[in-house]
Amino acid sequence: MLRPQLSDPNCFWIYGNWGAERASQSSDLPPLPTFPPRYRKFSSALGPVAALLVLSISVLSVGFPVMMSAKRILISGGAGFLGSHLCERLLGEGHDILCVDNYFTGSKANIAHLLDHPRFEVMRHDVTFPLYVEVDEIYNLACPASPIHYQFDPVQTTKTSVHGAINQLGLAKRVRAKIFLASTSEVYGDPTEHPQTESYRGNVNPIGPRACYDEGKRAAETLYFDYWRQHKLRIKVARIFNTYGPRMHPNDGRVVSNFIIQALQNEPITLYGDGSQTRSFCYQSDLIEGWIRLMNTGDEVTGPVNIGNPSEMTVRELAEAILRLTNSKSDIIFKPLPQDDPTRRRPDIGLAKKLLDWEPKVDLEDGLKETIAYFRKKLVD
Ligand SMILES: NC(=O)c1ccc[n+]([C@@H]2O[C@H](COP(=O)([O-])OP(=O)(O)OC[C@H]3O[C@@H](n4cnc5c(N)ncnc54)[C@H](O)[C@@H]3O)[C@@H](O)[C@H]2O)c1
Repeated sequence: MLRPQLSDPNCFWIYGNWGAERASQSSDLPPLPTFPPRYRKFSSALGPVAALLVLSISVLSVGFPVMMSAKRILISGGAGFLGSHLCERLLGEGHDILCVDNYFTGSKANIAHLLDHPRFEVMRHDVTFPLYVEVDEIYNLACPASPIHYQFDPVQTTKTSVHGAINQLGLAKRVRAKIFLASTSEVYGDPTEHPQTESYRGNVNPIGPRACYDEGKRAAETLYFDYWRQHKLRIKVARIFNTYGPRMHPNDGRVVSNFIIQALQNEPITLYGDGSQTRSFCYQSDLIEGWIRLMNTGDEVTGPVNIGNPSEMTVRELAEAILRLTNSKSDIIFKPLPQDDPTRRRPDIGLAKKLLDWEPKVDLEDGLKETIAYFRKKLVD
């Protein structure tokens, strides 16, 4: 199937007839003229006058509500674990999806099944560089999420969070898009309050090995709120707690994927410390439901909102559950706790319940079974 190319001047994602010249100018320009979503795609090819004509004819013939449904949504980090599920979910809701990724931790395999979808486009792009496209909503997920990956090139991690936020906020400001940030419970650092509410300001070591991620996300949150205060941008900030599910990176050292792969291969399961540190694990589909509900709230809702599963368990209990569900013969071995590893982590999701009428539904055992099935197949492939 022929797809519009992003370099094609008629491609609706690009600024259209205004784009080439606007794109090279500063982000402090007055907002571009806008049409309801379905019509903006035509506006680039036909020009504003023709688009207005199309708009008026449709208002007369089919009525307004029909026009408001499909949105053009940019998902940065869309080829990653969570991004690929979000692409799938929003495509299923009838939206046009532009998936942007530099494939640092994501993969083409995660989105291979979506490539032939007529409303799906993918673009290799690093968010530390500006991007000029026209969209209605932006989900900013681009950032390596596991310690192994974000500590691999810590300077690039901070740049991804900070420059990535600046570039995507600049884009949102230019096209008046609503913008979502996948922030993290790591902004709470090694917390001294349990469970963590959104008003807790955290206990982060600004010069430790995790700081590139923790402080990067904190700076990104700051930028989101400054764009909201200064430029009246519509922002949505979610603080995400540990999430798991199919398409997690097999070698990212995160506890769920690590344990499952070790158990499936009957290799020793590695516990750091004595395994008494706690975590709470949310299944991917629950998390994504929370994100979409947050994105769809009124403009007065900015977040930050904790999204995660409040049921807390020790890492050792998780290892034992995985051993049982995989029928594994693995032993458990212990290694020293990494520096700045939080000892407890559990969200207070009172705000998400109140604002979004949201709470996780997927039972840990059901979610683990899905994830184990995914990794079992991956190991065979
Ligand atoms: N999974 C979790 O438990 C969890 C917890 C807290 C926060 N988050 C946040 O959610 C988001 C998605 O996490 P995930 O678990 O899917 O991780 P992931 O590593 O699978 O996905 C991140 C994606 O961003 C891409 N990326 C990284 N740097 C980029 C750059 N400079 N330009 C373009 N793309 C880039 C990667 O290639 C990858 O596809 C991240 O921002 C992460 O910080 C995740």
